[in-house]
Amino acid sequence: MEKDIYILAIESSCDETAAAVVKNGRDVHSNVIYSQIALHTEYGGVVPEIASRKHIEKINQVIEQALSDAEMKLKDMDAIAVTYGPGLVGALLVGVSAAKAISFASGIPLVGVHHIEGHISANYIENKDLEPPFLCLVVSGGHSHLVVVHDYGEYEVIGRTRDDAAGEAFDKVARAIGLGYPGGPKIDKAAKEGNPQAIYFPRAKVGDAEYDFSFSGLKSAVLNYLNSCKMKEEQINTADVAASFQKAVIDVLAGHSMEAALKYGYKKFAIAGGVASNSSLRKVLKEACQEKGITFYHPSPVYCTDNAAMIGTAAYYEYQKGVRHGFDLNAVPNLKLERV
Ligand code: KG4
Ligand code: ZN
Repeated sequence: MEKDIYILAIESSCDETAAAVVKNGRDVHSNVIYSQIALHTEYGGVVPEIASRKHIEKINQVIEQALSDAEMKLKDMDAIAVTYGPGLVGALLVGVSAAKAISFASGIPLVGVHHIEGHISANYIENKDLEPPFLCLVVSGGHSHLVVVHDYGEYEVIGRTRDDAAGEAFDKVARAIGLGYPGGPKIDKAAKEGNPQAIYFPRAKVGDAEYDFSFSGLKSAVLNYLNSCKMKEEQINTADVAASFQKAVIDVLAGHSMEAALKYGYKKFAIAGGVASNSSLRKVLKEACQEKGITFYHPSPVYCTDNAAMIGTAAYYEYQKGVRHGFDLNAVPNLKLERV
């Protein structure tokens, strides 16, 4: 019987300070998340400097909590995993420095993880049978990618956003209609009371790349609509705007995903990232997959938004391949997913 591998994982790429203990890549023994959302709300978005300072304040506490929730000691760990990109450089550095210090002091190997690889790997936690190859839609605050997962750690990005990420569009539109930050969950909730057919917003096609996305035109269309209502002194129905905007985003995300799944012949389709917790997106994709005989995988909402369990899962497959990082590991804010 093979030895169990325990990984202590750390995530600090944006506004969540998180640590987790994961066994053999799929069993989460603890998952501690300190969310800074309340701190950033009054500024209408993440303030990088505040995020870094709060990470410094919380990181040791969160790591200790993850070990104690798992009822384990640092010496029981086989690797220390950490997100080293992409993300906010100051925020990433806090996690990377903490991981390097722990690894140096304990002699436990260090494994750096790509944040998006973490999001994709979140699907392995609750779907024990899921194995590559499959197609994955990654939609978060900073990324909108359609990715072919050829194997563990082997990715091909077949579609990406040309401008705003899907989550960014949710956040900007929510701010414009007065719902506040973070916009995604607020639009999700407001849209339930609205009519998605009330206002027609454009669905952008990027001419030369059939699976690429563009959300900045949609965002401008919503802003133009709000301005024209204001000029005409017409009452704005927030729920209708939220539902109509959400429908426009989902039509494009689901449309591109299903076309790619059919063209490439994938029978397994997964979603990942903060926007993947959107209730309407999940419903539409579930139905579309059912209709096409594709198995639909999705993490629970807590594993969609930023967390360290997903980093521990991704790290396990890297660790098994022999990946180890030195103490020269640095934060890479624009780290690419594909390795050439
Ligand atoms: O993955 P994540 O936690 O952080 C990044 O790596 O960016 O994603 C955060 C994004 C935010 O833009 C947030 O508004 C969006 O995910 N989000 C949602 C929902 N929950 C979070 N978007 C739509 N519907 C939701 N229910
Ligand atoms: Zn993320």
